[in-house]
Formats: sequence, C-alpha cells, structure tokens
Amino acid sequence: MPEHTKVMGKEWAEARREANVDRLRATLATALAGRTGITFELGCGHGHWLAAYAAAHPTEFCVGIDLITHRVERSVRKQTLGKLDNVIFLKAEATEFLEALPNQVSLAKIFILYPDPWPKKKHHKNRFISPENLDLLASRAAAETQLHFRTDNADYFGWTQEHLAAHPRWRIEPEVVWPFEQKTFFEERMKDRRDVFARLVK
Ligand SMILES: C[S@@+](CC[C@H](N)C(=O)[O-])C[C@H]1O[C@@H](n2cnc3c(N)ncnc32)[C@H](O)[C@@H]1O
Repeated sequence: MPEHTKVMGKEWAEARREANVDRLRATLATALAGRTGITFELGCGHGHWLAAYAAAHPTEFCVGIDLITHRVERSVRKQTLGKLDNVIFLKAEATEFLEALPNQVSLAKIFILYPDPWPKKKHHKNRFISPENLDLLASRAAAETQLHFRTDNADYFGWTQEHLAAHPRWRIEPEVVWPFEQKTFFEERMKDRRDVFARLVK
C-alpha cells in the first residue's frame, strides 16, 4: 500500500475514533447523570446475562456495550420487555467507551464473558486483555473493584491469568465463586468454562 494511503487511513481512523468518543460522551452525560458507579459488561452480545443480572440486582446500575449493532438491538429489546430501569445497552467500542465515561462515574464491577479468543498466535494482539487495556480498566475502576472474566478457551484463560498477575494494579483472587449464573448466547454453545477473578489494588 502506498505510504500516503496508509497515512490517510490512519488519519481517517483517528477522526472516526474521536467522533465516536464525542458521541458517546454526549450520550453518557445524559444516561449516567447523577451516577457515580456502574456495573459494566464489556462485549454483552445479545444481553442475556446482563438483563437477567440487572433484574436480580435492582440497586445496581448496569451498562452493557458491544460493537455489533444487531446484538445491541437484541439487548435493548430485553431491557424494554423486562421493563428494566437499571440497565442500558449501547453500541460502543470498549476503549472508546472508557475514554468517554464521565469523570465522576467509575466501574464498580466489571464482567467480561466469553470474549473473542483470537486463537491463532498471529491474532493474539487483538485479544482485549492486554497491559494497555488493563491499565485503562484500572484507571476507570473504583477502589477494590472486582474484574470477572469467563472463557471457554484454555489458552486465553492462561493468557488472562498471566497478564493480570503481571499487572501492578490487579491482584488475582483465587477463591471466588462466579456471582450470578445465567447462560449467555455463547455459553449455550460452549463445552467448557474457566473463570478468572481479579481485584483492583492501589
Ligand atoms: C464471543 S462474543 C460473546 C458475547 C457475550 N458475552 C456472550 O457470552 O454471549 C464477544 C463479543 O464481544 C464484542 N466485542 C469484541 N471486542 C469488543 C470491544 N473492543 N468493545 C466492545 N465489544 C467488543 C463482540 O462484538 C462480541 O459480541
């Protein structure tokens, strides 16, 4: 690819990211007005898990995000049908969402269920769990926030344990029980499940 095309592509991607963050900032300023903490699901898919969690935890305010429009639409339908006033679902990319989150709002609980495992080695760089993204989550998390991670993929499980163990702001918690069971769309299709829990440290 010619160099000038690469430069234009990069500029376009940066401009699009900025526009997404600005749009999310405006949405979140209204949707989270007066709130200081949220229960956050990153990559909520069709919303099965978070809609059920929100119904069972009426005192928590929950936010689910996903990149894929039709999955978010299905999630919103669950919120509407369930008449749930303590959960919202948004189409958003996670790092853009975290950048746009109002300063007064922190992540009280974080859930990541069945994230894309990117099994091929050459694609591992696309896995959400990385030192940079763990920094970003830590920067928006409340004191003692717990991060809950579930996967069916043995390699991503080990990868996540290693990245959390190496990160100065997260401490792996060995003996925690998954706090709320509700099969997700992907869990229905998976044979296996492995959980990792970590707590934010100062
Ligand atoms: C394998 S699916 C699992 C969905 C759901 N958690 C479940 O268990 O049914 C992973 C989801 O994460 C979403 N996703 C991946 N990267 C994301 C990102 N950076 N920001 C937001 N969502 C993301 C994908 O669009 C996809 O819906």
